[in-house]
Amino acid sequence: TTPEPLVLTELRGDGERRTALLTLNRPKQLNALNDALMDQLGDALAAFDADDTVGCIVITGSERAFAAGADITAMAGFSFMDAYKGDFITRNWERILRVRKPVIAAVSGFALGGGCELAMMCDFIIAADTAKFGQPEIKLGIIPGAGGTQRLPRAVGKAKAMDMILTARMMDAAEAERAGLVSRIVPAAALLDEALAAAELINAQSGPSVMMAKECVNRAFESGLADGLGYERRLFHALFATEDQKEGMAAFVAKRKPAFKQR
Ligand code: CAA
Repeated sequence: TTPEPLVLTELRGDGERRTALLTLNRPKQLNALNDALMDQLGDALAAFDADDTVGCIVITGSERAFAAGADITAMAGFSFMDAYKGDFITRNWERILRVRKPVIAAVSGFALGGGCELAMMCDFIIAADTAKFGQPEIKLGIIPGAGGTQRLPRAVGKAKAMDMILTARMMDAAEAERAGLVSRIVPAAALLDEALAAAELINAQSGPSVMMAKECVNRAFESGLADGLGYERRLFHALFATEDQKEGMAAFVAKRKPAFKQR
């Protein structure tokens, strides 16, 4: 028998462009992220990013856990050289950073350690009211290694990031929303529907505007204000060369819905 995939993939929605739904699938281990799972996730992300019929990607876990972190049993015996030469975690975890389409994290239950970091590598996080975020690596004698010390302070500020990373305490969904880590909270039972509805709204937009908007917002975290504004201005001007800009504005003037074509 073939083993159950560690990431389940399906296409959702019935519009011209659909949503790729990726479900982390090691429920018994609370979706602990091992090498095989991250390889499968990276492959799925790359395949859907290249698929013109897909507009948006949603990553979710189980009701109990988005992901409880990197797989501790797998790395417990690592030496420095295993981690360093194996390029842990850059080799496969950061493939998500090369995805040009929007990636939404739909988080229910635990998002801890690498699970929280994976969610933060997505473009935004929609949280169930049951979500719990944390960077408890300090309890294992390590520190966050998939961007937690960098992305968490950018999301929630230094005070909360230090508090969470040094004490290992968890944040519930309400605190995470107040702090700006998640974009919205929804009842757990509605999580997937809400995330897929957000994806559908994005799928209906023009492909180049969506990709350029994502690029520009990401640029805000990688450059000073003047550079970021210059970058935005260049891409803003470039969009006037697209057919979709003509369509979007003509539709507004004619009081009809735009039919964007460009992918
Ligand atoms: N790695 C491997 N296995 C894990 C795991 C992880 N990160 N998290 C949970 N599991 C396993 C448990 O070992 C357990 O397995 P068994 O049934 O075989 O014993 C199963 O999942 C269920 O977990 P619990 O019985 O512990 O469930 P609980 O409800 O009592 O506790 C929890 C839930 C608080 C999330 C607890 O499982 C926990 O603390 N997990 C570890 C969280 C953590 O430290 N994450 C950071 C990992 S390091 C990291 O991610 C590094 C990085 O930055 C890249």
